[in-house]
Amino acid sequence: CGIVGYIGYQDAKEILLKGLEKLEYRGYDSAGIALLNEAGTHVFKEKGRIAALRNEVDPQVTATMGIGHTRWATHGVPSRRNAHPHQSGNGRFTIVHNGVIENFQEIKRDYLQDVYFSSDTDTEVIVQLVEKFSDNGIPVEEAFRKSLTVLKGSYAITLMDVKDRETIYVGKNKSPLLIGVGGNFHVIASDAMAALQLTNQFVELMDEEMVIVQSHSKTIKNLSGAQIEREPFTVKLDASDIEKGPYPHYMLKEIDEQPSVIRNVVSKYQDRNGEIAIDSNIREAMKGSDRIYIIGCGTSFHAGLVGKQLLEKMADVPVEVHVASEFLYNRPILSGKPLFIMISQSGETADSRGVLVEIKKLGYRALTITNVAGSTLSREADYTLLTHAGPEIAVASTKAYTAQLAVLTILAYDCAKAKGMDIGFDPVGELSLAANAMEIMINRKEKMEEIVWSYLSATRNCFFIGRSVDYFVCLEGALKLKEISYIQAEGFAGGELKHGTIALIEEGTPVVALLTQASIAGNIRSNVQEVMARGASVCMISMEGLEESSDRLVIPKVHEYLAPLVSVIPLQLIAYYAALFRGCDVDKPRNLAKSVTVE
Ligand code: G6P
Repeated sequence: CGIVGYIGYQDAKEILLKGLEKLEYRGYDSAGIALLNEAGTHVFKEKGRIAALRNEVDPQVTATMGIGHTRWATHGVPSRRNAHPHQSGNGRFTIVHNGVIENFQEIKRDYLQDVYFSSDTDTEVIVQLVEKFSDNGIPVEEAFRKSLTVLKGSYAITLMDVKDRETIYVGKNKSPLLIGVGGNFHVIASDAMAALQLTNQFVELMDEEMVIVQSHSKTIKNLSGAQIEREPFTVKLDASDIEKGPYPHYMLKEIDEQPSVIRNVVSKYQDRNGEIAIDSNIREAMKGSDRIYIIGCGTSFHAGLVGKQLLEKMADVPVEVHVASEFLYNRPILSGKPLFIMISQSGETADSRGVLVEIKKLGYRALTITNVAGSTLSREADYTLLTHAGPEIAVASTKAYTAQLAVLTILAYDCAKAKGMDIGFDPVGELSLAANAMEIMINRKEKMEEIVWSYLSATRNCFFIGRSVDYFVCLEGALKLKEISYIQAEGFAGGELKHGTIALIEEGTPVVALLTQASIAGNIRSNVQEVMARGASVCMISMEGLEESSDRLVIPKVHEYLAPLVSVIPLQLIAYYAALFRGCDVDKPRNLAKSVTVE
């Protein structure tokens, strides 16, 4: 979910709506704003996108303060009833919330038995609680603080009181929230992007903090009431980086940007002599660890799988890769000197942060690989490597993934060098060749359109098979296709398919097979024969030098370590054109959010 709040002198309505549009990547199943003026609180909400909310908002209502929300449903179906803002029973308090209140049932039982609830959300307990406490004669600030101490779980909250047109109350625990600072206004946002048109000065909030925000002042306190001083930091992001330009979709723009992103990553990690060099503290941490644990979700997890191969093959370090949401329950027996690598495009994913908090408690060190400087995972880890991909807006990740692969390559190379290993791999030269090869693939979009037309125009499902590192790219290719075209897709290890899943192959079932590694060429071709013998319609994608005349697509030759950078491009484009073909909303697929800040 995304949150915006504004208190100042301008019309809050437009500021909130524009801010919410920038936050739609965090969820877009319903949205709402509340404006507070001399006539009272005016709440507008609607199921669906911000565009739908815009139609709902009364243009006559103006106010210089307000709060807004775009939702990714956790408790309660997406509907107008469950859309935020929510109000207390007597309408005095209005709230928006991002996060999950884990003890909302207990709160209802212990404090709010006599209260009528007008939504199915966990959020509503917060606003009812504030009303309950303030009805008992406690001042609002105190009632808000007391409510926060009762909550268990994650929250970023903004709250308005109809009786006070000078204050917005803010609370934060685990869910991200920033306060943007202007000359005579403040803006509250889940992400700086929502407020960049107003300011680039932001104050970060820590867990279990609250803020009393007014136009000219903001007072940060901890939940014991002690005041905290904190200086703003500057967000170096150009608002034009987040425009779509002439492209029909952000996803296509971001796919196209990948070659220049890879070149940019290389230049960011080159020293004055053009040599790859990373921060010496990171180098030491890598050298000093006996096992690396890579943690990520979704596409970042898939990048981690490729990263394991890079680190093990190049630098001879043992690596385990774990899905963040499983790690805490199935914690592996850790080695003596573990180092954690958190991979997260946004740097905000709650599942990954849950692991980071836990391992920091245990006293271990962590390196975050992220695209967002100053994000939570970056701030809370010991070290950060940025992926320098520029803002990624489309929900389906493309350039963030390839940038993660480039950074992992650089890290693996640096680690090998630090260990004195001579691996005969020139990262600058090889990555730049890979960037050129990516460009060639990007310029062959019509090929991918044809593939979609031939294989995916009338299918319910699709399989991706590969071996070794190709298997990991298949997982990512299948995820892309699922995410945006809703075709049921699975990535499979070529050899494993025959142990069960091959039962799903029927006459005409599309199977995309990937081959970029010489050592497994024979085996994957046998797997292709197995599925073809059962009627599958196979789209073989191979790398130059390993191709056969019947292959559907041949990708340019690059170093085997870097093949995923190139082989993923056709898979991204196949997903893109399949989604277009099926009339899907490419940039905002159903049920998803780009940054999931609940566990
Ligand atoms: C969400 C997105 C995925 C993304 C995952 C991890 O589920 O829909 O596209 O891969 O989060 O995000 P992160 O920002 O941690 O890389």
